[in-house]
Amino acid sequence: MTPPPPLLQVEGLHVVYRERGRASRAVGGVDLSLSAGETLAVVGESGCGKTTLGLAILGLVSRPGNIDAGGVLFAGRDLRALSPDDLRRIRGRDISMIFQDAAAGLNPVLSVGTQVEEIVRAHRSVSKREARDLAETALRRQGLPAPERLLSLYPFQLSGGMAQRVMIAIATALQPRLIIADEPTSHLDVTVQAGILRELQELKRGSGAAMLLITHDLGVVARLADRVAVMYAGRIVESGDATTVFSRPSHPYTAALLAARPRIDAGDVPLAAIRGAPPDLASLTGLCAFLPRCSKAVTACRADPWPQLAGQPSGSAAACFNPMYYAG
Ligand SMILES: Nc1ncnc2c1ncn2[C@@H]1O[C@H](COP(=O)(O)OP(=O)(O)O)[C@@H](O)[C@H]1O
Ligand SMILES: [Mg+2]
Repeated sequence: MTPPPPLLQVEGLHVVYRERGRASRAVGGVDLSLSAGETLAVVGESGCGKTTLGLAILGLVSRPGNIDAGGVLFAGRDLRALSPDDLRRIRGRDISMIFQDAAAGLNPVLSVGTQVEEIVRAHRSVSKREARDLAETALRRQGLPAPERLLSLYPFQLSGGMAQRVMIAIATALQPRLIIADEPTSHLDVTVQAGILRELQELKRGSGAAMLLITHDLGVVARLADRVAVMYAGRIVESGDATTVFSRPSHPYTAALLAARPRIDAGDVPLAAIRGAPPDLASLTGLCAFLPRCSKAVTACRADPWPQLAGQPSGSAAACFNPMYYAG
């Protein structure tokens, strides 16, 4: 028997922003796949194309951005070939997105209840009453107190953590098969973050949904992800199962990200920031984009085009001429 196709398959995806004569290749040839029930974390510094990748999967890249090439298959259907109406039906029902800035994702002039109901009724033919019940259930599932009262509030009456929980409730009200969460905890303070993370974990366990978790926070990844894809300058430079990538990073960029990670047990030790900054995506040279910041560069790195992802002794795949080496 052949195994079922992955729920999500991204193939050779390129997204370019064209503005004032500049072409920034925010996604430069990304392949990834995700199965039901699995959580894949896409990690990397700010400006590496993570959000653009998430938007492209949902068909939400807008001008000046454009998908120049590649395919996005969801349950075997090519999302890029769907009509805008069909795509809208899939978004929110089968695939939903939790954005970084919850407050910006909520409509300020509509009550919380109206917004959850609207989503439900846009995708299911239910009465207002039934939609209301579903909305209440979704909010209760998020551990939100007094959901019936919450439904009558407006976004400005919610704290940041509360607004993010409402966003999660909206995103999960219809039990989607794929959730794309873009920096779901970045704007929240640490204690609220922990609560949201617990809910995402719960959600993942309970629903069997697949999750594409976009984040620069490796602490979040360690708690939620099955697999990790490390993104740099629009490309995936390393991918593998989370435990392997964390314990034996193969790409020097992954190793640097891990070394720069704030650690609870590190006390007052200053952070080892990665020197330099991610490159300008409008002036990539074709060589490995990490070269200017890499401490392990060899001759090939200065002569040959950026290598493809290839299997490493650790079990991960990395795009590197001189990957990290582990004895034994
Ligand atoms: N709306 C936009 N207009 C022009 N360029 C953009 C836009 N959004 C993103 N970009 C370009 O794409 C790059 C990657 O952005 P983004 O996908 O938001 O990365 P990340 O989520 O990893 O921080 C940016 O550094 C910028 O060069
Ligand atoms: Mg982003």
